[in-house]
Amino acid sequence: MGRMIVREALSDPSVRIVGAVASSQSAHLGADLGSLCGMAPLGVHIVADPDAVLAGAEVVIDFSTPAGTLAIASRAAAHGTALVVGTTGLDGEAERALAQAATRVPVVRSANMSLGVNVLLDLIWRASCALPDFDVEVVEMHHRMKQDAPSGTALLMARVAAEARGTAIGDALRSARSGQVGPRRREEVGVMAIRGGDVVGEHTVFFLGWGERVEITHRAGDRSIFARGALRAARWVQGRAAGCYDMRDVLGLNQQS
Ligand SMILES: NC(=O)c1ccc[n+]([C@@H]2O[C@H](COP(=O)([O-])OP(=O)(O)OC[C@H]3O[C@@H](n4cnc5c(N)ncnc54)[C@H](OP(=O)(O)O)[C@@H]3O)[C@@H](O)[C@H]2O)c1
Repeated sequence: MGRMIVREALSDPSVRIVGAVASSQSAHLGADLGSLCGMAPLGVHIVADPDAVLAGAEVVIDFSTPAGTLAIASRAAAHGTALVVGTTGLDGEAERALAQAATRVPVVRSANMSLGVNVLLDLIWRASCALPDFDVEVVEMHHRMKQDAPSGTALLMARVAAEARGTAIGDALRSARSGQVGPRRREEVGVMAIRGGDVVGEHTVFFLGWGERVEITHRAGDRSIFARGALRAARWVQGRAAGCYDMRDVLGLNQQS
């Protein structure tokens, strides 16, 4: 994702890359960022110390690991640098560090930075409110190498559907059905996973009613969609008040309306 973001940023004249951070064990420390991304040298070299980069940055984009997010969050807050965080699977410590950072700087977080998926989340909210008697089921499909199931995005979609109806996702989630499962509970939100081939990522949300159904699908073509979303968030977050934001804020979507 780091390379994707660099490539997208280089084609955006409103963005200037002032630094790049990797872990202290990185094989790429000292490397030129442009060369590493298969492009012309940029004169920006990869370092392990966030402070060396943050001093000159208005926004830092983090797609790393929970340890990477933890390291960058407190330093960004200390430098007054806005944060855009795409890293997933954060542990309690990294979550707390981000919450703390958000008291001092604006922080945009999303487990899925794709613009299309975030519009879809808004549609899910609206459809869930407008069609309260329809059953909601999410089906996701990813390549055969994906480690986790269901995807974080499918779980997020299920959560939005449940919350739109005033239900906590913990009570509603149904992520497997096999054997004598009995009739579907009314508040249930099913999330099912398909794995195979080279599928980048597909999510369909079904609203199943009596005599009719609505299906909303998002298909990801390649991972550059996340990089473009992150850059859009980076442009949006500059000059915002400290606090926690998500991509729906960035896109100006107000799910309650
Ligand atoms: N929100 C979204 O839309 C979205 C989309 C795609 C992926 N993601 C998430 O973004 C994260 C990264 O995904 P990826 O596919 O790019 O993973 P990846 O290929 O494993 O890259 C991880 C990067 O983080 C760096 N890193 C690791 N530890 C670090 C540390 N302590 N400090 C600074 N940098 C560190 C690594 O550099 P070195 O190993 O060289 O140190 C590497 O460049 C994952 O959590 C993934 O789930 C989110």
